[in-house]
Amino acid sequence: MTVTKGLEGIVATTSSISSIIDGVLTYRGINIDDLAEHASFEEVAYLLWYGKLPNQSELDELIKKFGESAAVPAQVLDQIKLYPSKTNSMAALRTAVSSLALYDESANEMSQEANIKKAIKLQAQIPTIVAAFARIREGKEPVAPKSGVSIAYNFLYMLTGQEPDQVAVKALDQALVLHADHELNASTFAARVTVATLSDIYSGVTSAIGALKGPLHGGANEAVMVMLEEIGSFGNVESYINEKLANKEKIMGFGHRVYKNGDPRAKHLQKMSRELGKLTGNMELYEMSVKIEELVTGQKGLKPNVDFYSASVYTTLQIPRDLFTPIFAISRCTGWTAHILEQYENNRLIRPRAEYTGPVDQKVTPIAQR
Ligand code: ACO
Repeated sequence: MTVTKGLEGIVATTSSISSIIDGVLTYRGINIDDLAEHASFEEVAYLLWYGKLPNQSELDELIKKFGESAAVPAQVLDQIKLYPSKTNSMAALRTAVSSLALYDESANEMSQEANIKKAIKLQAQIPTIVAAFARIREGKEPVAPKSGVSIAYNFLYMLTGQEPDQVAVKALDQALVLHADHELNASTFAARVTVATLSDIYSGVTSAIGALKGPLHGGANEAVMVMLEEIGSFGNVESYINEKLANKEKIMGFGHRVYKNGDPRAKHLQKMSRELGKLTGNMELYEMSVKIEELVTGQKGLKPNVDFYSASVYTTLQIPRDLFTPIFAISRCTGWTAHILEQYENNRLIRPRAEYTGPVDQKVTPIAQR
């Protein structure tokens, strides 16, 4: 047996959803740069699920379906009200998404038709849950979702209870496009492993949320903001980063298992961070981020990943820090569910082996002698 730690370089499945070839990311063969500039998140969701971009009526129909299914069962909202006051936002999302299955009579139906309906419903409901959680913990009532608006618009509306600014909607929409899928990343793999046992789609997405939560994966965007807050101001960047690097500590938002020459999504988020900084007249977070990049890339050769500039983007949009990873989940739900559907279509149980390194030839010692 040859063990490849972290399964690095192991090709575990075929997939026609997204590809990373020579550092270029595509969804269904379309370059992410093209999608980031020219497609909305709803168009990307359609693309990932159905394999092609929608025409206008297909897009309208999908937006209609999102609107019809965005409300979350009252029982799930009541449960959120019972969560302890300091509940971790990703733990809350994981628990609430798991609860959704209890109120969906089709939760265990396995037809392709039932599963695509559930994918659309989950995609519509996750933003509602995140926004409701954020309001409930502040003692506010959740805001009911609107129909006929984009997911980015609805999320910002449900979060604040106010009509969101168009610039903010556009920025969030583009961030959602950039995070929607990423080949066999850890959370998508977790989703596929779960449903490969022929478990249901809610179990797959719940597993994925658990995997996304960690700071080596989706949790890194929040960790970047923690670092920016710790640094505090531009003048402290150099000493802070140099000390971290000298202590061989990881700098969150840098490095990637697959991209060694840079994450193609990062430049879009960097541009967004700069533009939002200019618009709001506060460039400090952007300038601090650029300085961090200069130091980390200069000294370690590591490039920023998708999470690095997301932190300054979301902060400039006045989104609380601990909602950054749930926003990642709002977006990645499209990719998770597309992969779940693909896994069901051509399923085989995922069951690798482990090389045993423990003791051998042991015996049961009677309990009194242990
Ligand atoms: N800061 C400092 N050094 C780093 C960083 C970093 N962010 N990332 C990797 N390195 C160093 C490691 O210390 C290691 O050095 P060594 O060989 O001297 O021990 C070397 O680069 C290889 O790093 P690994 O952790 O083995 O790389 P791996 O492919 O396993 O991990 C990962 C990739 C988890 C993304 C890693 O780069 C990391 O921890 N980055 C910070 C967390 C982060 O930003 N995660 C988000 C990733 S993108 C996403 O999931 C959405």
